Amino acid sequence: MARRKIIAGNWKMNMTPSEAVELINTLKPLVATEDADVVFCVPAIDIIPAMEAAKGSNINIGAENMYFEEKGAYTGEISPAMLTDVGVKYVIIGHSERREYFAETDETVNKKVLKAFEHGITPIICCGESLTQREQGVTIDWIRQQIKIAFLNVTADQAKTAVIAYEPIWAIGTGKVATTEQAQEVCAAIRACIKEIYDEATAEAIRIQYGGSVSAASAPELFAQPDIDGGLVGGAALKPDFGKIVNYK
Ligand code: PGA
Repeated sequence: MARRKIIAGNWKMNMTPSEAVELINTLKPLVATEDADVVFCVPAIDIIPAMEAAKGSNINIGAENMYFEEKGAYTGEISPAMLTDVGVKYVIIGHSERREYFAETDETVNKKVLKAFEHGITPIICCGESLTQREQGVTIDWIRQQIKIAFLNVTADQAKTAVIAYEPIWAIGTGKVATTEQAQEVCAAIRACIKEIYDEATAEAIRIQYGGSVSAASAPELFAQPDIDGGLVGGAALKPDFGKIVNYK
């Protein structure tokens, strides 16, 4: 069975709640499609107004982060129940910016992934290598390690529903998109790693996105690769161009 594409926007720390409503109203007709899942991962404070604005459309509203505890003395964090209470079904976990600026590790990523599944939220699990790692030829080893730790104690049934975003750090926000070959090579290696951890059926079911300077120009070729099931899009998700990315065919 062919995997359904999933195209997600990562708004990062952009858009006030009123700007969010305006952007969703602009993008709503442009991202209409029956061929792919469309997700807008927005800042926590934008989630509720974004949900309202997206009502009746094919846009799913997701979160950019979530904590791995149920509740309590964790000032500033958002709990899984806070997300599910308002209908959030997707959450980005372990984005490289969270790893770089907010000290997230493969271990905290794993805790968050387990917690997301416990609450029925689909994690969009990020992995990716630095430029140094790529130049030193350790990309695949590095990504395999990230994946193996992220999926520790995750069942095959859960893994089948997960989304992995392969995002080479050197391609994020730089305008330097990975070549189609580079992106496909790593996404295929991720699928092989999932097959090793679980089995063929799980590897065939899991969806793997490419992220890093995806644009309307680069999306068609990237998304046509056998192991690339869509994209995680930053900068271009804030523009009408996102409509072209979603309707890349
Ligand atoms: P970019 O960001 O598309 O602006 O490179 C992608 C991401 O960080 O998810």
